[in-house]
Amino acid sequence: MPPLPPPPEAVGPLIRGIAVLRELTAAPGGRRSLGELSRTTGLARSTVDRIVATLARIGYVRTEGRTVTLAPPLMELGNAYLLAVRLPDLLGPHADRLADALDESVSIAVPDRDGIRFVHQATRRRSLSLSFRIGDLLPADRTAPGPLFAADGGRPAYEPHDWPVLPPRPAAADPRSFQQRTEQAGRDGWSVDDQLIEPGLVALAAPVRDVSGRQVCAVSVVSHTSRHSAEDLRAALLPDLLAATREMEQELSRSEPAAPKSEWATAAWTTDAKQEAGADFVESLARGLSVLTAFGTGRPSLTLSAVAQATGLPRATARRALITLAHLGYIAQEGREFGITPQVLDLGFAPLSRLTLPQLAQPHLRDLCAQLHDSASMAVLDGADIRYTARAASERIMAVRITVGTRLPAYATAMGRVLLAGLPVEQRADLLAAEDLRPLTPHTVTDRAELAAQLDRVAAEGYALVSDELEEGLRSIAVPVRDREGRTVAAVNAAMHSHRHSPEQTRADILPALRETAARIEADLRIAGRFASVQG
Ligand code: PHB
Repeated sequence: MPPLPPPPEAVGPLIRGIAVLRELTAAPGGRRSLGELSRTTGLARSTVDRIVATLARIGYVRTEGRTVTLAPPLMELGNAYLLAVRLPDLLGPHADRLADALDESVSIAVPDRDGIRFVHQATRRRSLSLSFRIGDLLPADRTAPGPLFAADGGRPAYEPHDWPVLPPRPAAADPRSFQQRTEQAGRDGWSVDDQLIEPGLVALAAPVRDVSGRQVCAVSVVSHTSRHSAEDLRAALLPDLLAATREMEQELSRSEPAAPKSEWATAAWTTDAKQEAGADFVESLARGLSVLTAFGTGRPSLTLSAVAQATGLPRATARRALITLAHLGYIAQEGREFGITPQVLDLGFAPLSRLTLPQLAQPHLRDLCAQLHDSASMAVLDGADIRYTARAASERIMAVRITVGTRLPAYATAMGRVLLAGLPVEQRADLLAAEDLRPLTPHTVTDRAELAAQLDRVAAEGYALVSDELEEGLRSIAVPVRDREGRTVAAVNAAMHSHRHSPEQTRADILPALRETAARIEADLRIAGRFASVQG
């Protein structure tokens, strides 16, 4: 079926901006050149340039030369949907407990047109080649939840089209048609996927209903034929799955309506950005996207007035944006209420949720390195060592040769001291008690009391400066990177020759930029890690 033409009030730049975001979402690595974007969207190159400049200004994409990449702040749109439906927050902990109890992967999916869309994943993947993330969309007829949603009624007919994350349809182990599976699911109240997605993958799903009896999501237990056949999965695990979905239904019926809460700032930036970015800034695109951020905790659906109020947009502007977003499927209208749909997760969420912490950090380390002309790195604690996980190296020649994967003793490095200082005191003491504090240079602090005092100071001041202790002539200054809960998950540093500046100068000149870099990485991590788990 060809797409319907946009209604006359639709905002063209918003349609075109979303086309660019969708194109990037489908591209390998969420990345394309400006020329490719122009070709694949069919938009004029000058239009693509202006759209990309606008998206970059909002922070939703990053540009490097002619290359455009999706950026983590874009995930705030998918987060707005996930906060609004509340399913991950309310039911996610139940799914995690079920996954622990069964030692199998468990996922939660919602119906989305002719597909199922994951909103939570508790993953224990073993021999499967595919691992799905929050935001991934699978064809309903190849999954366990699909027939359940279809049996619940109201789903549009299945229309075959390209599915971004999937290999071609395998020869089905289950030869029944979708229609037959749907009728069976309607009778049974559960459904299986016997290797319809990929050979070896088996899934068993059961629905979760809200107080009105409507299926709001389905929970799947996912395993491998080396552990369970489809039949055996049902026999062994269905009782536990049904007990879990019953508990989830109780959780939904017990939960008080959430108080409206804003986790992310809304449209305040649009006017400022216009002033700064000038002629290349497509304000109607920025304003249109900001409408999606009006939704969130306690605000699954809003009236036009509420959207205008939340975004600070004039009513007429908000109305045209809502009409445009409804035309594209990101908003569903019911009477006077507009609701955000799971299709919003199509805007970059799944590829961005695959980024690891080093990948989130890399562009920020590159910016810092370009600004300071010193090498910038990120490391994590690995036993009593630090292990480099990301690095942007400057041109300047350094004595120490460091690459991603390099391990160095934590006690003699600035990043190590930041990481040790971030540990609970007993854990820090245990780690160091077992470590031989060898002098690596005449300056290495090897006295345990002195090292402990240093670590206390690092914890209090929030940075470590280490000169000539790992290697003569080498200085490193490091700060922590903390997650949403305030735990230190990594350290970032800048490394330089120690004779170039005094320690005081290093503190004055470099620490502010380093702290700014850590703050940017933390901001990305907060958005990316709100629902998805960001791997270290
Ligand atoms: C998954 O969570 O990976 C999953 C769920 C249901 C399926 C297939 C895969 O049918």
